[in-house]
Amino acid sequence: MFTIFPAVVKGPLSESLLGRAIGAGLLDVRVHDLREWTRDRHRSVDDAPFGGGPGMVMKPEPFFAAVESLDPERGRVILTSPAGRLLDQALVRELSSEGHLTLLCGRYEGVDERVVDGLPAEEVSIGDYVLSGGELPALVLIEAVTRLVPGVIGKEASHQHDSFSSGRLLDHPHYTRPQEFRGMPVPEVLVSGNHGEIDRWRRDAAIEKTRRNRPDLSDERFA
Ligand code: ADE
Repeated sequence: MFTIFPAVVKGPLSESLLGRAIGAGLLDVRVHDLREWTRDRHRSVDDAPFGGGPGMVMKPEPFFAAVESLDPERGRVILTSPAGRLLDQALVRELSSEGHLTLLCGRYEGVDERVVDGLPAEEVSIGDYVLSGGELPALVLIEAVTRLVPGVIGKEASHQHDSFSSGRLLDHPHYTRPQEFRGMPVPEVLVSGNHGEIDRWRRDAAIEKTRRNRPDLSDERFA
């Protein structure tokens, strides 16, 4: 991963699921400061846009020098960008089958288009909103992909039931103790011990939740 803010990603990579995966040798993330591939005295990574307008654009040279310094085993080269292909579970699955990924974090108003055209790099967006930089999107991508790496999550993996893991249906609601909390009881069926009925309830509740929260996902099977 290449970024001008290595410190932003180091914390999240050292904790929780990602920290454990790295500790167990299931994941290797190398964080590089893009400025190491600048050649001028000010280590500049950006410049004014041709054609005018506000803001700065990230220069192509550091990205090219950085990526070309890697061995050819670099895998797919991904640039985080709000103008990219939307990251969804299908793309996450696709990326999880790669041995290597090279992530480039964009910043400022944008990145010189020749990074996309010439390296080449695939642009990936984590959603239809704009952040100031690609570091958090890169972490989102890494965590989503890492969850699918064999051994990262237990065998009877909870992710097999997660939202999006099987088709376009959100996960069903979950409950734990206490059985009644502030006047809100756990649905009776979940404490019935009847696993056939529990499965049916969960499926219906998942369909209902998908209709309510993500009508855009509603599948003809559930129409
Ligand atoms: N950089 C800024 N916003 C972004 C987004 N939504 N996805 C990926 N990279 C970004």
